[in-house]
This record gives sequence, structure tokens and C-alpha cells, in this order.
Amino acid sequence: MGSPAPHDPAVERRFEDNRANWDDRAALHVASGYGIEELVAVPTRITPEVDQDRERLGDLTGQDVMHLQCHLGTDTVSLARLGARRVVGVDLSPGSLARARDVAERAGAGIELVEANVYDAREAVEGDFDLVYTSLGVLCWLPDVTAWARVVASLLRPDGRVLLRDDHPMFMAVGEDVSGGLRLEQPYFERTEPMTWQDDGSYVEAPEGTAPIAHRTNHQWNHSIGEILTALLEAGLVLDSFEETPCSAWAPWPELMERTVDGRYRLREDPDRLALQYVLTAHRPG
Ligand SMILES: C[S@@+](CC[C@H](N)C(=O)[O-])C[C@H]1O[C@@H](n2cnc3c(N)ncnc32)[C@H](O)[C@@H]1O
Repeated sequence: MGSPAPHDPAVERRFEDNRANWDDRAALHVASGYGIEELVAVPTRITPEVDQDRERLGDLTGQDVMHLQCHLGTDTVSLARLGARRVVGVDLSPGSLARARDVAERAGAGIELVEANVYDAREAVEGDFDLVYTSLGVLCWLPDVTAWARVVASLLRPDGRVLLRDDHPMFMAVGEDVSGGLRLEQPYFERTEPMTWQDDGSYVEAPEGTAPIAHRTNHQWNHSIGEILTALLEAGLVLDSFEETPCSAWAPWPELMERTVDGRYRLREDPDRLALQYVLTAHRPG
């Protein structure tokens, strides 16, 4: 399986930049809270991110679950609390995984955490899975959605399912500076060349005095809805549901957005103008 272009030094360098950037972000996210103490304090607590998909996830009792791009492990712990037999979190960033291990231990959750690129997940982890779960800020870090879908399919046993919830590619295509309104400034379709950013912050509010991100360079890719769905279908999966929503987990344009009752964000004026998120489920035929 492996990375989209495993021996291409340019591809490797981008993953290295992203790894260093995510190691720094992990420290910032822990400092911001990230719901960790709530998860540790209440043994039945499930993160709101996982909770919103409880119906789609169904009964996880006795199931084997792969959580791709698990970051600090908060959703991974939640999946274990929903009764899964085995939960494996995979992430590129050792800084994220070190913190995820601490979260899991303090929360009393017996999850496995594996350092690997998503593209190497099949080789890095033994066994097949009933569910691949991956959500919120995931596909933008991956250059090739076709190769990603093949990895997902290879991890699933027959009748196994995937649940993907992520930022909508139209949302991702809008530029950062919205002083003149919402403008399409980034590619909607997948390109080999990434969007390269210099960021000293992240999508959380860190307390005053927290060290800014030192490794600021990060690379992202957009993937159109058609490319995502085609990738899953070409990998042999059957699409079961697909929904677009006007709500987001984060607010890149605070001046244009408002908080919803369930703690998410949407455009203050005429939110139906733009899809901010989508969620899909698919399965590998038996
Ligand atoms: C936005 S976070 C996922 C967030 C998750 N929803 C959460 O809040 O817990 C993105 C994660 O993807 C990981 N990541 C980025 N590129 C990756 C890759 N190629 N393979 C595996 N993990 C990757 C980062 O290290 C980071 O932990």
C-alpha cells in the first residue's frame, strides 16, 4: 500500500513539516484544555464530536475500531467507551500520541496507539476492523484521496464500515481574508502541489503565555466531494449515507460566524449559502 509517492523526497519533506507542526500543535491543544479534563473526570463521558454521530456509529459492542488521525486520543477514548472490543488510534505525530497515551491512561481506557502515516496504516497495524472512524480536520493533511480510500478499504473486514466527518471542500476553498466577503481563493479540486501555510497558532484559544508554534510550515490539500466519493467507490466500498451541513467545528472567520446551541459554528447571515462540513458512511461488501 504505502504513501502516494513513497520515495519522492518532496512528499516526504511535506509529511515531515506536518509532523513537526502537529507536534507543536499538540502542546498548544493540551494547554487549551481540549476537553481532556472532562473526559478524565467523568468515566462515561463521550466527546461531542463522537456523540453527534452516535446514531451513525450504531452499537460498537464487541467491535474492532480503527481511528485514523487520532491526535490527542479524546475521540479514541470515546469510541472505546461505546463498548468497542479493540480500538486502535493511528497518527503521524509522536507529540500527539505521547499526550494521547497520557489521556488514555488517566481516562482508564485500554486503547492502542500507533505512530504511522495513514498511508502506512495497513502495514503498521495487524488485524482487520469492523469500523474505520476518522473525523474533523483529516483529509486536508493527505495529498492523495484515492490512495487514502484504498488504505481504508484494506483495513476493513467484509461488512466493515467507514465513518468520515470532515470540513467541506467548498469551505476549504474560501480565502482567509473575508473583509470583502466570502471569496473562492484556494483550489476546490485535488492538486499535487499543496497549499503551504505559515501558522503560529491553531484552531484553539491557548492561554496567555503559551509558547507559539515553532514549526510553522504546514502543507494541506483540498479534495472535491466528487473525488472523495469516487475514491471510496473505486476502492470497492458501497456508499450508505452522505450529508452536508452548514455547521462547522471551528470558526476561521469569527466576524462572520456565530455559535450554535450545540457549540458548533455557522455563518451568521444566511448560513445556507455554504456547506461547512459533510459526514458520510460506507461499507465494504460482505
Ligand atoms: C485536526 S487533527 C484531527 C483532529 C481530531 N478530530 C481531534 O480533534 O482529535 C489532525 C491529525 O492528523 C494527523 N496527521 C496529519 N497528517 C497525517 C498523516 N499523513 N498520517 C497520519 N496522521 C496525520 C495530525 O498529526 C493530527 O493529529
